[in-house]
Order: sequence, then structure tokens, then C-alpha cells
Amino acid sequence: MKLDMYDQALLDGEYGESRQKMMEILLTLGKIYDAERFIPVKSVQVSGASFKTIGEAGLKWLSGIDAKAVVPAFLNPIGMPRSGWEELGIPQSFAEKQNLVNDAYIRLGIRPTYTCTPYYFSIVERGDHIAWSESSAVSYANSVLGARTNREGGPSALATALTGKTPEYGLHIVKNRLPQIELRLDEPEATKKWTNAEYGALGVIAGAIVGTRIPLFMNLRSNRDMLKSLGAAMAASGAVALYHVNEITPETRFPFFKKHITEDEREVVTIEVADVLNVFKEIEVTAVAIGCPHLSKEEVDHVAKLLSGKKTIIPFYVFVAEEMKASCTEELAVIAKSGAKVVPDTCIVVSPLIDHAGAVMTNSGKAYSYLLGMCDVAPRMGTLEECVRIGCGE
Ligand code: F3S
Repeated sequence: MKLDMYDQALLDGEYGESRQKMMEILLTLGKIYDAERFIPVKSVQVSGASFKTIGEAGLKWLSGIDAKAVVPAFLNPIGMPRSGWEELGIPQSFAEKQNLVNDAYIRLGIRPTYTCTPYYFSIVERGDHIAWSESSAVSYANSVLGARTNREGGPSALATALTGKTPEYGLHIVKNRLPQIELRLDEPEATKKWTNAEYGALGVIAGAIVGTRIPLFMNLRSNRDMLKSLGAAMAASGAVALYHVNEITPETRFPFFKKHITEDEREVVTIEVADVLNVFKEIEVTAVAIGCPHLSKEEVDHVAKLLSGKKTIIPFYVFVAEEMKASCTEELAVIAKSGAKVVPDTCIVVSPLIDHAGAVMTNSGKAYSYLLGMCDVAPRMGTLEECVRIGCGE
């Protein structure tokens, strides 16, 4: 790889031993993926923040690093809210470990944003090179915002935060961002009535079909929250880091992409709407959890409208970023009045909140994909309306 003076100085240890080690990680990655050089990034999003997912080994690794982030860097959800975790039944032993993880990241200069939706609070522009690691955030940044990031692991994202550099390969290069498989629905008209949940269910099916390839959807008319739901689910059931929706996502409107979309030959797969709706199987549930990825302001508003004047009869969790709370105080008060628990900083999957809780209903295709493996609970997919209906015993 071609190294500039700063890269070489990092590797020579002139910026400290920790950054030297970080640069060695990035150099190894660059060599594996045939990168020609390093490029600077505008921001970093670091996953691997919950003690539930990183454990003692991750905490030990973090504790041995001694450097500070040199670019804006945001942290993914942790395993519990910063305050009020006792009332939620989080064990003291877990909280103590989680606090050590939080302290370690703060010491490294990673902002304690504790969200997988940093794009609601930081400016990310089309064409920006970034290094993000939470899979739904990667998908949203690449696909909906038109930024450029590979699906980083927690350690490589942290290495970039501490050095400001990432190897230029994969989705940082425009020609690697072209669609590789085309997905169509057998009844595109059906999507006119779809909510975020059906888009999540479509993501569950589509991700399993495409794996790591870049899909191009034809004939979808989705808003940003629907795209968030679709992308998050595809990143979980497959490993999709970028997708395109023709005429909707930003890159499909570039002449370069338009030309390729029109002229290139690619595999075309038709997904049956009936298969998407089959994801919504009815089973008895013991809790409801929404907010995967963390809710947008519009989604909070929608939840509040549906829960207004109602009472939940089973545990009902609503996950939002702490920073979102300030912009929807009234709506969150309405949600809390219903008995639902508004939980910031953490999420359905990375906290121990619902581990072994029987069966849990969600409107998220990503949570649906992970609940069994990560939390040992049976998942049930439902629209937000259905989640409220079941959560309120109607
Ligand atoms: Fe975010 Fe947790 Fe879902 S990190 S995307 S809320 S699994």
C-alpha cells in the first residue's frame, strides 16, 4: 500500500504505541482487500459497546488502549440505560461491567451517544467517506444517505477513530457500489398499504436471498423509515451493507448508476408478497419491544398516537436514543403514561432485558432475525398497530 507521511509516522510509533497497533490492524485489512492507500474519514461509529456482546475479553482489550479519537466518533447502544437500570431488573454485576466498558470508550474519546441511529444527530452527506460498524447504521448511511462505508468490525472502526484513516477498498470505491442482483415483487401494488413492519419482513426474506450482494429493488415507493426497516433486516438475515431502490435512493439518480441500471445484465429474482406476509405468524407473546433501529421522531410520534389513552398489560419496551428524547418530550410522556417503558441508550438485542422472556413481539425485521439467537426468545413479527393491540390486551 502507498503510505503518506502521516500513515508512516503512525506505523513507526511516532503517535504512540496504541495508534501504531491500530494502524497495523488497518494495514493488515488493507492488504487483505488489496487497498492501494489509506483515506481520511469524516466520522466513525463504533459497535461492540454492550458488555453482553463483548464480554471480559472485549473489556480487557479496550482497557489496554491508550489514545484518543481524532475524528468525530459515536458509540453504539450499550447493554443498559445510563440511569434507571435497577428498576428494569438489570443485575448489579452486569451494570458494573457495563460501566467499565462505558468508561473505557469515554477515555478513548468515543462519544457516549449510545445509539445505532447517529445519522439523526450528525451530518452525513452524500459521498462522505466514513467508517461505521453497526450493520443497520452502515446500511442506512450507504443506501439512504449515499455516504461510503464498509461494514466495519468494532476493532477496525475503533482503529479508524484513533487514527482518522481507513483503507480504501470495497464500498469506498464507486464501481464497487453498483447493483449485483435485482429484486422485484410479484405484486408491487401491495406495497401501497405497507408499513415499516412489512418492509422489515421484506428485508428478512431479501437478505436471505442476496447474502452479501448489493440488491437493486424495482417498484418500491418507500419513505426513509421504511428504508431504515428494510435495510436493518437485510443486514441481519443477510450481510447487506448497501442496497438501492430505483429512483428513490440517492445513487440511483446519478447518471453513472442510471446507465448501469439500464444497461447491465444481472440476476433477477421475484419475491412473492405472500412470503413476506408469512413472516407475520401469530404466537402468544409475553412482551413487546419496538425501536430496532432506534426510533425516528416520526416513529415516536406514531407510537404516542397509538398508545394515547391506553394501558399496556404486558411489558412493552420502546427504545430511543437519549438525544432524541429532548425533541419529543410530550410524545414520550404519553408513551410512558400508557405503562410502556421508554428505554434510551440500549436496545432489544444487546441488553439482557428480555433474555429468556418466552416470546416477544416486534415490528422490526432485524430484531425478528436476532431475538432467538441473541436473546433466546421466540420472535413474533407484527405491525406497530398490532404490537399496540397485543401489548394493550385488545
Ligand atoms: Fe440498533 Fe440494537 Fe437493533 S443496535 S439496529 S436497536 S439490534
